[in-house]
Amino acid sequence: MRSPETASWHAASWQTRPAQQQPTYGDPAALERAVAHISRLPPIVVSWEVEALRERLAKAQRGDAFLLQGGDCAEVFADCESDTITKKLKILLQMSLVLLHGLKKPIVRVGRMAGQYAKPRSLDTETRNGVTLPSYRGDLVNRPEFTLSARTPDPDLLLRGYERAALTLNFVRALVEGGFADLHHPEYWDLGFVQHAPLKEAYQGIVGSIGDALDFFEGISGRQIHEATLVDFYASHEGLHLHYEQAQTRFIPRQNRWYNLSTHMPWIGMRTAGLDGAHIEYFRGISNPIGVKIGSAVDAAWLQGLVTTLNPQNQPGRLTFIHRFGAKDIAAALPKAIEAVRQTGQTVLWVCDPMHGNTETTTGGIKTRRFENIQKELDLAFRIHADMGSYLGGVHIELTGEDVTECTGGARGLTDQDLQRAYRSSVDPRLNHEQALELAMLIAERSQTRRAERRS
Ligand code: PEP
Ligand code: CO
Repeated sequence: MRSPETASWHAASWQTRPAQQQPTYGDPAALERAVAHISRLPPIVVSWEVEALRERLAKAQRGDAFLLQGGDCAEVFADCESDTITKKLKILLQMSLVLLHGLKKPIVRVGRMAGQYAKPRSLDTETRNGVTLPSYRGDLVNRPEFTLSARTPDPDLLLRGYERAALTLNFVRALVEGGFADLHHPEYWDLGFVQHAPLKEAYQGIVGSIGDALDFFEGISGRQIHEATLVDFYASHEGLHLHYEQAQTRFIPRQNRWYNLSTHMPWIGMRTAGLDGAHIEYFRGISNPIGVKIGSAVDAAWLQGLVTTLNPQNQPGRLTFIHRFGAKDIAAALPKAIEAVRQTGQTVLWVCDPMHGNTETTTGGIKTRRFENIQKELDLAFRIHADMGSYLGGVHIELTGEDVTECTGGARGLTDQDLQRAYRSSVDPRLNHEQALELAMLIAERSQTRRAERRS
């Protein structure tokens, strides 16, 4: 039986509500054709993978696992090539190894990839030298060049996005299942350019110690521990473009439920989380594990409304709140949020996104984030959750496997001047490979310190 909450729901019922952040297409028939086309194509993921992820997230919610969710702010079609995808997978695997070692818990790996192609924008249009054009909303919608043809939303890009998402996940799956992600072989994940000696040594130490632990268990048990060493990997993206999400939404008779099969774990961005909006209507009906980005503007009643609307059955692993308050505001905002959810009597998985509340613009006009603020927000998040008897079950990071200079700070001490050297993001600044690995090490180190403090 379908639950009463979703009895009136269908994949297009969001269309009766106001939908924020949607592009305006000049030719609605062409949009309809693209959506119909994607609806006939096979799904990118299947429901039992989605259910497996939900169970893993339920473990993280109980405190028995930890979520590492990361990737680009926006994927671009041009980056759908093997080298970029492999590098992103490598850094996520390296980080997860460091976290596994430090946290002593299974790590649930979820990429912001294979579909992270649509972006919310603060303005619908952009004006340059007196010319006004639609804003760039991600490769799923239009192109960044400032010309009328590039900026006009093109429904065919939905198909191109679907195809690239499928190509990306197909490649990632083949790598992961082919043994690339085997913990016996972390040398496969070497990115080559960790030059900073302390980072490199610490990482090699962790690799060595995990290798020793595997040798030890396999030595005494006389068999290879494949179950624990073959890691798995899931995909996620912001479920922003509702026509695209609708196109891959299927009723699965075997499960007797609806799923969004364009990704394992879609999330609702902060700008589209209004309780009366189309995004909440869409997300309440799908059975995937879902995330919601939470900022300081979300008050107690709103949070409670999200909990009861999106997870009326209090199903473990269903709802993740990804808080992104910023280093300055987290101490005031997070305790209230934890308390508000507690009052509902329900539980969520709490995850910290230390990126989006810490974006600033340099005097030269470049969008950046300081490593120290990212680290500070994370430290505070762990501490506040622990002090309140809650559990921070994951992190959500914007990163790339490339050697970019988009965020300042970190062990190499990147400055505002360095930003010009290798700034490639067309949207938010990402941690580069070294900064991402360093952040994972800091999380692991802090967790070891906290464990030692509890024991003493
Ligand atoms: C993002 O994750 O890139 C984003 C736009 O975040 P938020 O919705 O939290 O602002
Ligand atoms: Co972003």
